[in-house]
Amino acid sequence: MKLLVTGGAGFIGSAFVRQALTGGDVTALCNVDALTYAGNLENLASVLPDPRYRFERADIADAAAIENIFVSFAPDAVVHFAAESHVDRSILSPEPVIRTNLNGTFTLLEAARRHKTERFVHVSTDEVYGSIDEPHDADEGYPLKASSPYSASKAGSDLLALSYVTTYKMNVSVTRASNNYGPYQFPEKLIPLMIANALEGKSLPVYGDGMQIRDWLYVDDHCAAIDAVLRHGRAGEVYNIGGSRALPNIEVVKRILAATGRGEDLITYVKDRPGHDRRYAITSEKVEAETGWKPRVEFENGLARTVAWYRDNPQWIASVRSGAYRDFYEKNYSNR
Ligand code: NAD
Ligand code: TYD
Repeated sequence: MKLLVTGGAGFIGSAFVRQALTGGDVTALCNVDALTYAGNLENLASVLPDPRYRFERADIADAAAIENIFVSFAPDAVVHFAAESHVDRSILSPEPVIRTNLNGTFTLLEAARRHKTERFVHVSTDEVYGSIDEPHDADEGYPLKASSPYSASKAGSDLLALSYVTTYKMNVSVTRASNNYGPYQFPEKLIPLMIANALEGKSLPVYGDGMQIRDWLYVDDHCAAIDAVLRHGRAGEVYNIGGSRALPNIEVVKRILAATGRGEDLITYVKDRPGHDRRYAITSEKVEAETGWKPRVEFENGLARTVAWYRDNPQWIASVRSGAYRDFYEKNYSNR
């Protein structure tokens, strides 16, 4: 299978690329990434020597660039991760979010339609369901009620992707995962930011009362689910992917402090996020029943692994914060 992956230099996309290239049936993999602040080719250092791997620096909203890549690579399948993925950034600056998440997804769907690409997986989020009151959990038929420009752009792109099944009979599936954590996550999201700050002895900014609930999914479990949907998912279907581990933010923060040997005096309650969703909760029964996938990594184990990785890689944190990974790009890619 010739796989085109978008956003493969980001957190989840790079984990997916590393995982996909451990299997034998991926004959070629083309990673298309614009290398925004969130894209870091150091995340892919281990796959650089693999002759099946190829990188194309391109903006997914650039129709001409995407067309050239489809012509030259001719993928059998697309797994679409590229996005502006951070809620707080989307609140401060929605324009790139709309451009990448909506226009970019549209550009890719159009290219896949023109080239009759056999399979397309659109990677989305449980945030499209909005805040969910206890005791309910959202299944795939739950109404969409996005709260932020980020979640609204993902909800819009989900509907667009599904419309290509109804209208053009394309083989598209949508995945909606809960909050991911693990190595290589940019230190702007809750878990990596809190780990990085705790390791450096800085304060940990908790929004509002810290009682917002998120369901945590280890990144490798998410990638395994996407692979299962790619192979066994049905056209026009949405698949929720949850970690079965709901925790209030403050509990996550306290566990990070304990794991890094820091005291709770580092916790600072700060102004709440505008439109902050109180609780995310999904059921993953459909993907489990149809593909046999299940999350494997317990939160305690996954968090310990994640803290250890950040502790062992302070240079990675410094590098992504300063944008220094671009030197790595120049050194390794400028003559390829
Ligand atoms: P990320 O921010 O770590 O990475 C995004 C990647 O996309 C980066 O490599 C960036 O350079 C690239 N990119 C951004 N704009 C681009 C553009 N216009 N053209 C080409 N490349 C571009 O994101 P992530 O956390 O790895 O999320 C990946 C996908 O998974 C997103 O679609 C996100 O909505 C979805 N998702 C994320 C989570 C989570 O907890 N992080 C949960 C569920 C779903
Ligand atoms: P985040 O990692 O940004 O993911 P999302 O908003 O997409 O769920 O945030 C997870 C939760 O942590 C969310 O309720 C907001 C909260 N949060 C903080 O309390 N402090 C922070 O500094 C950040 C980044 C998030």
